[in-house]
Amino acid sequence: ETGRARRGGRVVLAEPRSFCAGVVRAIEIVEEALRQYEPPIYVRKEIVHNHYVVRDFERRGVVFVDSEAEVPQGAVCVFSAHGVSPAVREHAADRQLRVIDATCPLVAKVHQQTRRYARDGRTILLIGHEGHEEVEGTYGEAPDRTIVVADLADVERLDLPRNEPLAYLTQTTLSLDETTDVIAALEERFDDLRGPGGDDICYASQNRQNAVKEIAARTDVVLIVGSRNSSNSVRMVEVSARAGTPAHLVPDVTELDESWLAGARAVGLSAGASAPEFLVDEVVERLAELGFDELELIRTATEDITFALPSGLAPPRRATA
Ligand code: F3S
Repeated sequence: ETGRARRGGRVVLAEPRSFCAGVVRAIEIVEEALRQYEPPIYVRKEIVHNHYVVRDFERRGVVFVDSEAEVPQGAVCVFSAHGVSPAVREHAADRQLRVIDATCPLVAKVHQQTRRYARDGRTILLIGHEGHEEVEGTYGEAPDRTIVVADLADVERLDLPRNEPLAYLTQTTLSLDETTDVIAALEERFDDLRGPGGDDICYASQNRQNAVKEIAARTDVVLIVGSRNSSNSVRMVEVSARAGTPAHLVPDVTELDESWLAGARAVGLSAGASAPEFLVDEVVERLAELGFDELELIRTATEDITFALPSGLAPPRRATA
């Protein structure tokens, strides 16, 4: 049965999917660094949470390290899109590393707000997952004043007076849906709570999740392209399952299990914010071979945001005569 084409099956492709603006920028930064400097170039942590992106760069002379301490003195060191704490910056400066910062500008904004709230004497409730790189970096801006809150149970455990001056911030890769409950619980429990304005929030995860809900409603099974350590990709799988449509994470086309498609007439397809579009193309091709040869696109939002490269790294202008 496997391999035999079932004519007339449909693929429903979600948009937005795949790279967000911060990931595009981080990858361009490493590309540009490879053009301008002799390899090896060091990148602290995975530049973005995708194994293909990481492996491709490794082949081309990028060395990924867990800590700036592993980078030889004076070498080029790129900070990943997830951001770093001030302690990491200081340590890198002490070691005279040539730092190129690929921190997403929206993550940098959360760092800025953390510093501002800390200066104002507020206790900061950082909604996110302990141990995630981004949370580690943000937390490091004001470790004495920040408490990481993952869920409602954590809110209940907070041992703070009702009138404590507070501010909440969120891990950027969480969607609004994921943080609404926690924020509502905080608002109910505390009287003096500040939070970020709408302009300061990253909508990439929410946009991708909204699109997944739409394709889930129209399909029998949903495939999400993304690496297992990409939290927003894993979350997209959960969103589909919660909407009642079974979903699977597909790190790449070789991990596509045909038995998932048994009996399906329509297959939903999307990709996490760190997953390159060519991995999606490969899945589309494979699905066509399996008989899912009609393609439909469902667009629930348009993302037109782009971020400039750091000024020190803009490609050198060619001299004009
Ligand atoms: Fe930045 Fe949002 Fe992507 S914070 S890295 S644009 S998910």
